Amino acid sequence: MTILVTGAAGFIGSNFVLDWFDQSTEDVVSLDLLTYAGNLENLSSLSQNSHHHFVHGNIGDRELVLELLKKYQVRVIVNFAAESHVDRSIHKSKDFIETNIVGTYNLLESARDYWNDLDKNLKQDFRFLHISSDEVYGSLNSSDHPSSEKDPYKPNSPYSASKAGSDHLVRAWFQTYKLPTLTVNSANNYGPYQFPEKLIPLCILNALKDKHLPIYGDGKQIRDLLYVKDHCAAIREILINGKIGETYNVGGRNEKTNLEVVEMLCKILDEIKPKSNGKSYSDQITFVKNRPGHDRRYAIDASKLESELNWQPQESFEAGLRKTVLWYLENEIWMNYIVSGEYQCWIQKQYS
Ligand code: NAD
Ligand code: DAU
Repeated sequence: MTILVTGAAGFIGSNFVLDWFDQSTEDVVSLDLLTYAGNLENLSSLSQNSHHHFVHGNIGDRELVLELLKKYQVRVIVNFAAESHVDRSIHKSKDFIETNIVGTYNLLESARDYWNDLDKNLKQDFRFLHISSDEVYGSLNSSDHPSSEKDPYKPNSPYSASKAGSDHLVRAWFQTYKLPTLTVNSANNYGPYQFPEKLIPLCILNALKDKHLPIYGDGKQIRDLLYVKDHCAAIREILINGKIGETYNVGGRNEKTNLEVVEMLCKILDEIKPKSNGKSYSDQITFVKNRPGHDRRYAIDASKLESELNWQPQESFEAGLRKTVLWYLENEIWMNYIVSGEYQCWIQKQYS
């Protein structure tokens, strides 16, 4: 049998598929629309792997998805496909509504059509695992307890509202139709293959190109950072032992301000790729206009996942960030390919 991974050419999706083949020989169908954020290069190491099947397409295409589910006898869908960048959702929210809400609805319906016709055992084993975000819980104050699965949803950006919408649909498809769903709400991921519109890869790229490292507002907003491979391990564990209909929070127990993150990044770069003029990369840090509605703090309480499924993040932030910086330094061709074309228009629009 096979697993269907949507959004597999994006950051977390590609890390998940690559990790999957490190542990398993079960076939993977990777479905991706290849938007600006999707990059087939991320999966190029699998080009000779006969267990991997890439399909260019939309999660909202019901006919295509149903055909794939039947053809490959899919037992698990992992849905990473989404518009994922908060700043882009502020400029243009339409794509976020279309993919994150309507797309997820169509994917759920395709899954339900397929699942309804499965025989009893296959029906029992089938899973629809939906990837969501800690952003759906909204902004925390410094004294608030980290967000748990029981907390109410209070999304503040068009992005997080669209993710919250998709989570509600997934919940309803379980409650109403008994489709065996699981939802994973994750903290901020970082690691290889992240598109350089997000803070960490943007700052690595800008540092190396001698450009500003843009910090929104006062830089004291807090994010809980999770190494992407720890997230992938959590998803695998939830697929095996997670209870259907449940939600699991995944976080790194690693809260940092944006300024702390960028300063750490500069320190690592100063050490492994010192500037020829002897100055620190931190001189490039520049405070810029704040993001509208910028959430002050996210933090995840992952104790349910830790106690029920025995999962723990393995990577410390210092070590994970160092690995990430090294990966970007060693993958300049990937980076140069990524930053051609549409990327330049985005940077112009957002930072000029
Ligand atoms: P990404 O933007 O890097 O990748 C998204 C992928 O989805 C791209 O390959 C894109 O081409 C594809 N895609 C977009 N619309 C599609 C459609 N209609 N049909 C098929 N494919 C489509 O995103 P990411 O950072 O890898 O995030 C993956 C998922 O995890 C998203 O659902 C996001 O909301 C969630 N998430 C991300 C983070 C994070 O820190 N990056 C944290 C928590 C949750
Ligand atoms: O928390 C999970 C979320 O993390 C995911 O659901 C999203 O898909 C993912 O994009 C990420 O959202 P953020 O908005 O937290 O990530 P981003 O890298 O865009 O920003 C991280 C923090 O850094 C945030 O507080 C905004 C700030 N920032 C970001 C950029 C791009 C800056 O200060 N300057 C910047 O140029």
